[in-house]
Amino acid sequence: MGFFDSRCIWKAADNPARSTSMPAATPLYRKLSSTLAGLIRAGTFPPGSRFPSIRRTSREHGVSITTAMEAYRCLEDEGYLQARARSGYYVSPPVISPDRFPTTGTRPSSPLKVTHGTLFETVIDHASGQGAVSFATAAPGKGIVPETRLASISREIIRRHGLEALSYTPPQGRWELRAALSRRLYNLGLTVAPDEIITTQGATEGLMLALRATAEPGDLIAVEAPSYFGTLNLIRDLGLRVIEIPVDPRSGLVVEALEVALKKHRIAACVVQPHFQNPIGSLMPESRKKALSALAEQHGFAIIEDDVYGDLAHDGTRPSSIALHSDRVIHCGSASKTIAPGLRVGWLLPGKWHAEVRRLKGIQCPWNGTLSEFVIARFLDAGGYDRHLRRIRRLYAEQCAQTREAVLSHFPEDARVNQPAGGFVLWLEMPAGFDARSYTAAALRKGIGISPGPIFSATAGLNHCFRLACGFAFGTRTLEAIATLGKLARHHRS
Ligand SMILES: Cc1ncc(COP(=O)(O)O)c(C=O)c1O
Repeated sequence: MGFFDSRCIWKAADNPARSTSMPAATPLYRKLSSTLAGLIRAGTFPPGSRFPSIRRTSREHGVSITTAMEAYRCLEDEGYLQARARSGYYVSPPVISPDRFPTTGTRPSSPLKVTHGTLFETVIDHASGQGAVSFATAAPGKGIVPETRLASISREIIRRHGLEALSYTPPQGRWELRAALSRRLYNLGLTVAPDEIITTQGATEGLMLALRATAEPGDLIAVEAPSYFGTLNLIRDLGLRVIEIPVDPRSGLVVEALEVALKKHRIAACVVQPHFQNPIGSLMPESRKKALSALAEQHGFAIIEDDVYGDLAHDGTRPSSIALHSDRVIHCGSASKTIAPGLRVGWLLPGKWHAEVRRLKGIQCPWNGTLSEFVIARFLDAGGYDRHLRRIRRLYAEQCAQTREAVLSHFPEDARVNQPAGGFVLWLEMPAGFDARSYTAAALRKGIGISPGPIFSATAGLNHCFRLACGFAFGTRTLEAIATLGKLARHHRS
């Protein structure tokens, strides 16, 4: 157990910035680490923020580099700081006791039709209205999308390729993009040739193609509970049914619950987000991915791996694809969360369903945005994508940590919240009786957009939960909005 209490670590002391008095014989590095720890507790350096470099601390405190290094080592050991490769030191997010985490179910649901209606469209429409502080859309905000770089690449592409950059793309997608993707996918442990990839209009089209290729109307699809509402909408539109499988806020899909469901039901496909799941932020360990793959092999269902957040691990470690463990996987990716959602560039590795997905793509939407595909290809290959990723992972990590910290300070004690290790969504679970629908409406009246739990459930359940997306920079307005949400939450209790 580190130095954090169960609620809000930075409030631990009355005058936390004051360093505790120490015996004169205390080594200098120890005195320094104690002073710095006091500053962290006092909130001078908030959770998730970048901590001053060793060199700067050595200069400002008039100590040697070695002394400063020793002090930082102590702060790491005590849980105050985290070192990130090639990026420096960051203030650790608070460690919260397990009773502040969202709870996990253990049983699958019965087979169901997706019944949730247009609630989410209403929320999204209002949330993007003028003057709103929006936590409703899981989209990268200002400062994350590399606007200037994309503008200059676009100009260069049009200059260089002229009409070709503005003409139709072959249905499988531009070769340049597929080649760039095959190099990137190598980082996930996937060895795929450009011809094994099909590009799509965002992951949404990829998910649609994957569902159509693996299931017929009336078939049963295993989905996560909670799950991404876009997937639920596709399932409803295709006339499929679902069976909901609980998701653990830390380790993802509860594979044992899927196993229980498979004893009774034939499942055509399982849609899963193994990495930084939207909306609950979980990350599946390799052992769970292997167990899921083994079930797919045994029962003959397809795994549709929705991996749009996989590049966004806050510590920079890229988790590997489930496709490493089974050939029954269709992998879907997208540039929407990492580069720019409006370019509408996604991709699909259909594996053994390649011919069927290619056929469907030719009918459903044979042409993608040629300019967008050229732009993403260039950005991935030569535009500094790795540097960009390092920067946005840090920003997303900071934004999540700051929003979460504000939630812990301003919401009632019995509010539960996840602590994602990547991506940028927070999931709040309130006590039973909380009404997320009327709460969302009340928040909108105050100009604040959030996403109510029912849109993440096939049955419009989860009405005691809601999601806060942290794609936008955290500042005074967002802090005030969280304080307002916290105050409102106290009035929405039974
Ligand atoms: C889990 C998940 N999958 C897919 C999508 C859709 O991505 P795209 O914008 O690339 O269609 C989203 C967008 O929010 C998402 O969160």
